[in-house]
Amino acid sequence: MSGLFQFKNLRTPAQQQGSSPLAQSSTVMSDETFKLFRDFIYTKSGIFFNDSKKYLLEGRVSKRLSINKVSTFEEYLQLLKSSQGRGELSALYEAITINETYFFRAEQQFDALEQIIIPEIIASKGNSLGTTVRLWSSASSTGEEAYTMAIIINERLKKKYPHVRFQIMASDINSAVLETARQGIYKEYAIRNVPPNLLTKYFKKDGATYQLSDEIRRQVTFLNVNLFDSSAMRSMQNFDIIFCCNVLIYFDLASKQQVISGLYDSLNKNGHLIIGYSESLHGVSKAFKLIHLPKAMVYKKE
Ligand SMILES: C[S@@+](CC[C@H](N)C(=O)[O-])C[C@H]1O[C@@H](n2cnc3c(N)ncnc32)[C@H](O)[C@@H]1O
Repeated sequence: MSGLFQFKNLRTPAQQQGSSPLAQSSTVMSDETFKLFRDFIYTKSGIFFNDSKKYLLEGRVSKRLSINKVSTFEEYLQLLKSSQGRGELSALYEAITINETYFFRAEQQFDALEQIIIPEIIASKGNSLGTTVRLWSSASSTGEEAYTMAIIINERLKKKYPHVRFQIMASDINSAVLETARQGIYKEYAIRNVPPNLLTKYFKKDGATYQLSDEIRRQVTFLNVNLFDSSAMRSMQNFDIIFCCNVLIYFDLASKQQVISGLYDSLNKNGHLIIGYSESLHGVSKAFKLIHLPKAMVYKKE
């Protein structure tokens, strides 16, 4: 997806002419309420809406009002802040973020992972009995990125390194996408890049959907982790490889810096951070060494 962190809604033509369709109902988000929402979302998640995204936020949040049977944005904000609002927070994240992902999305990065990064990490750990390689897909959405790692490891690395243990964690801020990930049932869109032999081997077609094999599903542990939550981040330690792809675009500079510094702390020495093709740590962090591999760029903790 270009501009990988696109939001789900653009302003409608009516909104662009200045008459919001929401104005036809009694619910309009005032500038003041927009700022309250923006600050609330930012403090909780690091996700930042600038002023030009007001209509977008209004459109997405307005759908949650009717679902929750509240009539104003202010009441909805109170609900989010209350103890009953915890589950609703996840639904709000789902409404305001894009969860697009698919298997073998970043092909060149996965090639680098298999051919260079994992072999180097195993070599640096001594390639001995008991060696463990820990991988983390840190904004996993519905799981395709983490499961792609598992398929690659199963297919191409387990035989080469029979004594090495591979542990794969995957996490997201949104519990609904994590539930989908655990089920491992995907539509055509998600599997379109899977090589045909691997599709036959690891997926069972069932009508219009594809069920991922238990063998691969068992290899990934899914957790709800907010990258912006320092205490949750402290529980994610000793990783050798972290994918943090297509999520930085949600953050402003300060939250990018906080998230990247947290990921740095989560990595072992010689660990690698992989971010999206359209993303960069330029101006965000100098802690990593940028490594130019033949087909991909990765950030190394030395
Ligand atoms: C576009 S998806 C990226 C999926 C996958 N990494 C890829 O590149 O294909 C972005 C994901 O980031 C998640 N996200 C947004 N803010 C987050 C945060 N503060 N902590 C953890 N995940 C977050 C969203 O819920 C969404 O599932």
